[in-house]
Amino acid sequence: MAGTQASAQGAIPNHVPPHLVRNFSFHTTAGATEDPHRAADPIFEGPDIFFSPIGWNGGPGWIVTRVDLLREIYQDPQTYSSNSDQFAPGELYAEADSTGIGEWKLVPIFLDPPDHTKYRVVINPIFSPTRIAQLEPGVRSTCLELVDAVRAAGECEFVEAFARPFPVTIFLRLMGLPLEKTADFVAWEEGLLHATSEEQAIAARLATGEYLKTVMADRRANPTDDLSSLLANAHFDGRPGTDDEVMGLYFLFFLAGLDTVTSALGFIFRELAQQPQLQQQLRDDPSLIPNAIEELLRAYTIVASHRWVTRDVEFHGVQFKRGDLILLGTQTSGRDAHEFPDPQTIDFKRENVRHLAFASGPHRCIGSHLARREIKIALEEWLTRVPPFRVKPGEVTRAVSDGAVWSVTYLPLVWGV
Ligand code: HEM
Repeated sequence: MAGTQASAQGAIPNHVPPHLVRNFSFHTTAGATEDPHRAADPIFEGPDIFFSPIGWNGGPGWIVTRVDLLREIYQDPQTYSSNSDQFAPGELYAEADSTGIGEWKLVPIFLDPPDHTKYRVVINPIFSPTRIAQLEPGVRSTCLELVDAVRAAGECEFVEAFARPFPVTIFLRLMGLPLEKTADFVAWEEGLLHATSEEQAIAARLATGEYLKTVMADRRANPTDDLSSLLANAHFDGRPGTDDEVMGLYFLFFLAGLDTVTSALGFIFRELAQQPQLQQQLRDDPSLIPNAIEELLRAYTIVASHRWVTRDVEFHGVQFKRGDLILLGTQTSGRDAHEFPDPQTIDFKRENVRHLAFASGPHRCIGSHLARREIKIALEEWLTRVPPFRVKPGEVTRAVSDGAVWSVTYLPLVWGV
């Protein structure tokens, strides 16, 4: 590791000038457990690029705040790498790295081009807009079943009743996995991403891994036309995928396909529950829904990414060194006033909402068409079938911002009473 200076929170590398050090943490700022995006607004009060000893899960790193700067980083994987394996022991400033689940490295999210490209060329066609459009009837009927199950009650806890089971069911169908396992999948996902103890995390990892291994073996022996079979039997660079590659892909889809849509739905429905005039605007004019989705994804971007600096480089006046960790401030970038005038206001008629919710560059989210379609159907069916909803009086919603995906974890809604 390069030379460091001591600070109250930990070591700060010698190349970080004092005026660029800020003790900012995304998840411990006041109000983060209720509304992490608004709580992080002070991020724009200091330098556009700064170093925080406690930025991410209490760990140190550079934080980049602005959309234009983040886009540059996303689009330069040679300099800003997703793959920490290329560094020698001790070369990385921050050793803590979460690039996999147990023994499996997530593929292709923690690889760089050209390695990364060989996986994308195989999986891109599966998630094309045309292929995703074909899923529409199944997605809508799943949505209807879940909405109908709660409509008459006049209330529900939205995350448990809808936001979690909806994408899980769609994912199981896509992968060709049994719907009877929904409860297991929900529990494993919870354990993988939001465990409250080390035991819960390990148990979830083992259970998911064991199950996915049996799926891989089965689909190699008896392939069908589902996504599990396609991945299990895929060829990369003209040779069959190894067990580790397939498991890395399975796990990534499991994580990326489930929690993200759940989280996005949580923030979107919370906003509509808290701002009745926005909800009414969509009820009056459903043609605004696609634009509303982009606007809400902008204001409530959920995925936190990071990159490793591969060479000493000056970036907009700031000296980065090989091995530095960059915490991309993507989650809050939708509130960058340089890019989005009056960013705190939700405006469904805002034009050119070029947000980074699905990132940019080679790792741009492959599931964005599916995610948008799920969110659109959820909004259409809720707004058609359920009367105006609001947060249950006397209750406080809850959110988490300590992992790679920011989520609303508790959203009690009431309607028609
Ligand atoms: C609202 C929902 C979603 C959001 C906000 C989201 C966001 C993102 C972001 C920001 C990245 C890039 C991360 C990085 O560069 O480090 C990403 C990558 C990815 N996402 Fe999504 N995602 C969503 C839903 C989905 C769904 C539904 C799927 C699949 C079924 C999916 C599959 C993937 C995959 C496979 C990658 C890795 C792509 C690569 O490394 O080339 N995502 N997502």
